[in-house]
Amino acid sequence: MSTNSRVGDVILEVSNISLRFGGVKALTDISFDVREHEIRAIIGPNGAGKSSMLNCINGVYAPSEGTITFQGKTFSHMNSRQVAEMGVARTFQNLALFKGMSVLDNIMSGRNLKIKSNLLLQALRIGPAEREEIRHRQFVESIIDFLEIQAYRKTPVGQLPYGLQKRVDLGRALAMEPRILLLDEPMAGMNVEEKQDMCRFILDVNDEFGTTIVLIEHDMGVVMDISDRVVVLDYGKKIGDGTPQEVRNNEDVIRAYLGTGH
Ligand SMILES: Nc1ncnc2c1ncn2[C@@H]1O[C@H](COP(=O)(O)OP(=O)(O)O)[C@@H](O)[C@H]1O
Ligand SMILES: [Mg+2]
Repeated sequence: MSTNSRVGDVILEVSNISLRFGGVKALTDISFDVREHEIRAIIGPNGAGKSSMLNCINGVYAPSEGTITFQGKTFSHMNSRQVAEMGVARTFQNLALFKGMSVLDNIMSGRNLKIKSNLLLQALRIGPAEREEIRHRQFVESIIDFLEIQAYRKTPVGQLPYGLQKRVDLGRALAMEPRILLLDEPMAGMNVEEKQDMCRFILDVNDEFGTTIVLIEHDMGVVMDISDRVVVLDYGKKIGDGTPQEVRNNEDVIRAYLGTGH
């Protein structure tokens, strides 16, 4: 378990969230909080509601009940602009990259989201646009260095191995300089070595940038290794919440999840 001594106050609070799709109750009365600088894992079997939970947090889905509080501001549902303004970025379970575009341009596209959310500010600050552009490019280059993908800057993303594509997706999210990073199965489909690399980058992002991380992950070893606290979902309900150790010893969790060989 990581001993994150920098964990601070609650930055994100999910309160009594329910979400329905027709007759399907994807989420039922889910509450949990996330502390600043924490690595907070969400685990649970397939269909448990993990991705739906992230989609409520970043405004893709509007919950049928409940609220989400970011840095003291409470919302019944978020829109994508508010999410960007709150400093929330995410990666997707199924990659959402532009396969024909270079690594550099894909990461720059994440930066553009941030730029757009600041359009008004930019309009008020009348100054040389080129200087802004240079600053953004430099930031994107620093992410490329950080993720050790300099050799692929100009390579179309579709030509990269899957593990590297996931790393580029992380870079695209980092380009928004998020305070909270939502990662939906960032290690799914990776081999052992790729997983180790991704774990290291997640820990480095958390450590070097102080970014708060909410992580959906299937690999229990990874969850036990890198998360501070874990929420466990099963059939849209929360059945466990605590340190990796506490969750591992929780009878309901063992029955629903750990025992099933996931
Ligand atoms: N857009 C959607 N429309 C209808 N049902 C959905 C939609 N998204 C998710 N669901 C359903 O909600 C439940 C939770 O799905 P999901 O959040 O993807 O689970 P997980 O990420 O834990 O595997 C599942 O029963 C799934 O079929
Ligand atoms: Mg999912």
